[in-house]
Amino acid sequence: MRIAFFSTQPYDRVFFERENTAGYFNYQFYETHLGPHIVQAVENVDAVCVFVNDRVNENVIQVLAEKGVKVIALRCAGFNNVDLEAAKRYGMAVCRVPAYSPEAVAEHTMAMLLTLNRKIHKAYNRVREQNFSLNGLLGFNLYGRTVGVIGTGKIGKAFCRIALGFGCRVMAFDLHEDEELKQAGVSYVPLEQVYKVSDILSLHCPLTPENRHLINKESLEMMKEGVTLINTSRGGLVDTWAVVEALKSRRLAGLAIDVYEQEEKLFFKDLSGTIIEDDTIQRLMSFPNVLITAHQAFFTEEALTQIARITLQNLQELGRGERPSISQALLA
Ligand code: NAI
Repeated sequence: MRIAFFSTQPYDRVFFERENTAGYFNYQFYETHLGPHIVQAVENVDAVCVFVNDRVNENVIQVLAEKGVKVIALRCAGFNNVDLEAAKRYGMAVCRVPAYSPEAVAEHTMAMLLTLNRKIHKAYNRVREQNFSLNGLLGFNLYGRTVGVIGTGKIGKAFCRIALGFGCRVMAFDLHEDEELKQAGVSYVPLEQVYKVSDILSLHCPLTPENRHLINKESLEMMKEGVTLINTSRGGLVDTWAVVEALKSRRLAGLAIDVYEQEEKLFFKDLSGTIIEDDTIQRLMSFPNVLITAHQAFFTEEALTQIARITLQNLQELGRGERPSISQALLA
């Protein structure tokens, strides 16, 4: 089976080559995103393998179908960047990796919260400069704080457990309540209540057309003065300028993001030495209480191994005309 990989980095090659032990797959790796600008160049492949910032809209799908591509394999969990209706119409199978390591993302979420709160990133730099002063590094205990979690699927659930382990009170909102989490001590409450009571709010729901800019001026106004917001889910869940205003007014005491609405032009690239034209991210980076990582939460040895393994398993099964055996892998 011939696969064209888009948005690839050197580590993608390593992990996918490691899993191709039987030599069943023939790979072409491209660094560029898949999108309308490049789709005409796709030739002689059975499948395309895409990531979070590839734009697989109707136009792209139509061209792929004309070129004989049969499968769009997402090597990630989220699928907001693929037009599933169009894929169905053009008879294109779409698969994903529904769960490769929820813990990888949940642990990074906690790492961001701890770093932001205890200012580890600043302390590290200070000590290297022989500055051993503690002024400006004051944090707060997580123990006893209320953590609000929006979306308690695989990642949200793993994060709830971590927060419970820290002795936090966890209040959650999801369209479906999880019985195990309730037994572990998580309280499900209406969304507005989560906004009102949380000292820390963490987003773990997928981005859908209905919840775009879930965090906006109105929801921020419902939140406690001094709340910390963490987003490791999708950038589009947050209205970035509303958040900038909330940081300026001090309603938000801190912001940690691993995802950003305009990330496709920035993340996964080394842009040091270039002029960044995105004024919004520049404004965010100017705040001392904002921590940004570049879509790194999934990035562990275990997760990359699982991503390669499950993506290839999906492709192999689809290639044999079977449904992928991993439930929820097939989207269209
Ligand atoms: P999941 O499908 O297991 O869980 C999502 C949960 O969100 C479900 O329980 C669902 O009922 C709930 N939900 C859906 N819409 C909601 C809404 N409007 N309000 C509240 N809850 C809602 O997905 P999983 O694996 O936990 O992943 C969650 C998201 O995390 C993905 O969609 C993706 O966007 C993001 N992600 C980020 C990564 C990163 O590296 N930063 C890596 C992997 C996923």
